[in-house]
Amino acid sequence: MASKMIRRGAASWLGFGRKQVGSVVRGTSRPAPPVPPHVPRPPYADSGNPGAYMPDITELTDEQVLAMRQASAVAKDVLHLAGSLVRPGTTTLEIDDALHAATVEAGAYPSPLNYRGFPRSTCTSVNEVVCHGIPDDRPLEDGDIISIDVSVFYNGVHGDTCRTFFCGKPDDATRELVTTTKHALDAAIAECGPGVPVAHIGDVIEQVASRGGFGTVHDFVGHGIGPVFHTRPQVYHFAGSGSSEVLKEGTCFTIEPMLTAASPKVTLWRDGWTVVTADGGRSAQFEHTLLVTPSGVDVLTAYPGEHEPDVGAGPVE
Ligand code: MF3
Ligand code: CO
Ligand code: CO
Repeated sequence: MASKMIRRGAASWLGFGRKQVGSVVRGTSRPAPPVPPHVPRPPYADSGNPGAYMPDITELTDEQVLAMRQASAVAKDVLHLAGSLVRPGTTTLEIDDALHAATVEAGAYPSPLNYRGFPRSTCTSVNEVVCHGIPDDRPLEDGDIISIDVSVFYNGVHGDTCRTFFCGKPDDATRELVTTTKHALDAAIAECGPGVPVAHIGDVIEQVASRGGFGTVHDFVGHGIGPVFHTRPQVYHFAGSGSSEVLKEGTCFTIEPMLTAASPKVTLWRDGWTVVTADGGRSAQFEHTLLVTPSGVDVLTAYPGEHEPDVGAGPVE
């Protein structure tokens, strides 16, 4: 199966091999527009090198906590705009152009841009693309789902949030996948607080997922977040991770489960970024940036209307 997918990826670059597995074919991308010079940049913006892999998390100062609230609010607003742009015929490049413009307009730097060489400002992951999809010129189709992951660097820290949106009218099974993914994130958030084992988060997510008959992707984790985009702890989204870390008051972290309609096994396109399910089944993702408080967590990227019925995945028509 893996070798079949690799051949498909190669074929997609050449414009052949359409619709062999799943439904998404690789389109053509182009470089992101520049970020104006007055916008403060994270240390990796020019080199592409964010430094050591997942360094230890540090407790945030009061000033940094305030910055986390502001950066997360910018990310949430940009993601809200994203939801309004999803419709059949629109390309993920057009969406990314608009989100890039809104981010820099807010005085923020789009965190993915040149992070380990990522070429664009947001990740747009359609149907069987699990995460890290590169915005390109494939028009969205009625019935698609699209995960848009917005992260921004603002006031010296990063905010990070993702949702899966419906494009037009997906089928019932797809809707169930998306709403269950949102419920898995919400159920995990409800149990978080100081001293809670990070491993408990994965237990809760897997319980919700498996009750719905869905898989949970093992290969990508949530993470500590602050002045550095990705720090410890690694937040696994499946049960039995064996992590011994606990949540610490005054730190920020993300939870970002990816659920799959069928097998949670993933494979990578030849572009080195696009992660897809190995079997072509669909995948959904939701992510919030959270602050550990004395009594629980604050959802810093809470989304307008997110607790109303049926706004799991807008845009609402
Ligand atoms: N926002 C992603 C996360 O949730 C990271 C994107 S970085 C990129 O951690 F390079 F993949 F774009
Ligand atoms: Co994240
Ligand atoms: Co993210």
